[in-house]
Amino acid sequence: MPLPFKHLTSTKQLSREDMDAILAVTKDMEIVLEKGGTDLLEGKVLASLFYEPSTRTRLSFETAMHRLGGSVITADGLQFSSLYKGETIEDTMMVVSQYADIIAMRHPEQGSADRAASVAEVPFINAGDGPGQHPTQAILDMLTIFKERGKLDGIKITMVGDLMYGRTVHSLSFLLGLYNDVTFTLVSPEELKMPEKVTSFFDEKGIAYTETENIEEALDGDIVYMTRIQQERFADKSEYDRLKNSYVLEAHHLTGKDITVMHPLPRLKEISTDVDRLPNAAYFREVRNGVIARMALLAMLLGKA
Ligand code: CP
Repeated sequence: MPLPFKHLTSTKQLSREDMDAILAVTKDMEIVLEKGGTDLLEGKVLASLFYEPSTRTRLSFETAMHRLGGSVITADGLQFSSLYKGETIEDTMMVVSQYADIIAMRHPEQGSADRAASVAEVPFINAGDGPGQHPTQAILDMLTIFKERGKLDGIKITMVGDLMYGRTVHSLSFLLGLYNDVTFTLVSPEELKMPEKVTSFFDEKGIAYTETENIEEALDGDIVYMTRIQQERFADKSEYDRLKNSYVLEAHHLTGKDITVMHPLPRLKEISTDVDRLPNAAYFREVRNGVIARMALLAMLLGKA
């Protein structure tokens, strides 16, 4: 079941049919993961390039490749790579294409993924480009929503926090917007509202959305998707300090509510740890879904699914 593109840099590349095909492959990958692994990608090499901090994305890509029988080469930290000496992203991609069969890269600059994909000779996956896109997080979020709520059409989702710089909410909005009757409630401080690149997509597609600064009036529907205020994107630290505790979801907010709580993680204080014990809390299940989703993507982009 090949995908109709070689590189994945943005969720805007995916059609509903592509997303449904990925979800179909995740069913097989979940069984493979439960059994401990397979040799489907034996002999294949993943280059895992992380020039910005990561725990989940990096480790889940690497876990996914190992579980599929492949192997991994890594580079992390700009200061430890030749990018630090001034090598261009394009030259780095040409070089890594000689070593690996597929590349996953995180980089702090928005647009870096498109530059990398424009020259990569092997499939390239964007693992997060600054405040731009994080397509594999959105795909694992779609899998999580489907598993938690049993549907994608008709989902009512509330997105909370740093909607300006949070690349995961940008990527997820474009994917959920492929499905019918999805409605968005966007909760953020005025300074961190969802950018026009996403709201203009909602407007073009006729997707219903409302914007508010009040979380408590927005806690209904199927999903509340909490996000961290992105300290690393602020030029002015005092502005970050003023906004960092804008929203804190606590267990008492969820009393009597059948709403699934998601978060791409890492969390700071925006979800109190007393939420963790509630059945609503799906954010650690979301992490496991990340391995399954990335197994599916690696296999599909390598033509082995
Ligand atoms: N969700 C996510 O991208 O986490 P990491 O930054 O740890 O990869």
